[in-house]
This record gives sequence, C-alpha cells and structure tokens, in this order.
Amino acid sequence: MIFSCPDPALDPHFAAKLLSLQHEAYALEAALIGDDRLPPLQEDHEALAAPRVQWCTAWEGVDLLGAVSWHEHEDHVDIDRVMVSPSAHRRGIASELLAHVRDDAHGRQLVVSTGRDNAPAVELYIKHGFKPVEEEEVPPGIWITRFRSS
Ligand SMILES: CC(C)(COP(=O)(O)OP(=O)(O)OC[C@H]1O[C@@H](n2cnc3c(N)ncnc32)[C@H](O)[C@@H]1OP(=O)(O)O)[C@@H](O)C(=O)NCCC(=O)NCCS
Repeated sequence: MIFSCPDPALDPHFAAKLLSLQHEAYALEAALIGDDRLPPLQEDHEALAAPRVQWCTAWEGVDLLGAVSWHEHEDHVDIDRVMVSPSAHRRGIASELLAHVRDDAHGRQLVVSTGRDNAPAVELYIKHGFKPVEEEEVPPGIWITRFRSS
C-alpha cells in the first residue's frame, strides 16, 4: 500500500477517481442511516478541490482504495471525510489514514462527525481514542455524532 498526499485541484484525473471513491463509499453510509441526503454524495469535483482542504490517499498500484480529507485550525483539526473502497474494508486503511492526520496535527485535537447509526465509523473512531461529545440533527431527520480525540 502506498500513501500519498496529492492535490485534486492540480490533477483532474485524480479528482475524478476521488469523486468516484467518495460516492461509492458514502453510498454505504447512506444505506446504514437510511438517508441519501449526505453532503459527500452531493459534492462535485470543485468541492474536493476547495482551498485549505488537505488530502491523504491510499493506493494499491493504480487503484485508489482510500482517502481522508481535513482542514486545519489554530487549536484543532477538522476531519471532513474518511472513505475506503468497499473492496478493501477491514484492512486497516482508514486507521492508517487517521494516523497520518494525527501526525499532521502535531498535538492539536482532532474533530470528526459521522452518522449516529454508522456503526463501522463509530467503532473506528472509538477504537482510535475519540470520544463522542454531542449529537446534532442536520439536516432534519439525519442524526450525527461529533467526536473529539482525547
Ligand atoms: C468507516 C470506514 C472508513 C472504515 O474503513 P476501514 O479501512 O474498513 O477501517 P479499518 O480497517 O481501519 O478498521 C478499524 C476499526 O474500525 C472498526 N470497524 C471498521 N469497519 C467496521 C464494521 N463494518 N463493523 C464494525 N466495526 C468496524 C473496527 O473497530 C476496526 O478494527 P478491527 O478491524 O481491528 O476490528 C469504511 O467502512 C467506509 O469507508 N465507510 C463508508 C464511508 C464512511 O462511513 N465514512 C465515515 C464517515 S465520516
């Protein structure tokens, strides 16, 4: 597995692969929470290439298997998206991607939200020491849990 940090703003071919992975992975979360109004399913290439958003990706040959995106604040780091191809689940890819963000945060707290009923993601964050801090209904009918790293 190769990990790299390309910029989708600079490479339209990579941006297309990333968008395809995002839609494939988040379709699973939509199925788990029973609602397909999730922002990652609505986004286009431009959202992926937004300023200040950083990416780390996992590759096996030319296959893009996983990605994480985040943006930095002075005192914490917001994780925007964590996604792994369904063909590569439970191989530790999301865990490695989170470790990369933690390294990049240099001690700052990590903040992430996921669907309250998205058991794989909830278990992932708990396994990596995140604590649930609040629940929010955004948009109406979709409950998310916000986690912070300890
Ligand atoms: C959530 C997701 C990113 C996990 O990716 P992954 O690479 O399979 O995760 P890992 O292999 O690193 O798993 C680490 C831990 O997470 C938990 N976990 C992962 N998948 C799980 C599942 N299906 N059921 C229960 N726990 C799960 C386990 O604790 C696992 O440790 P273990 O394998 O030693 O038991 C992946 O399922 C995914 O892309 N889902 C769709 C998109 C999404 O929901 N993203 C998160 C919302 S922000």
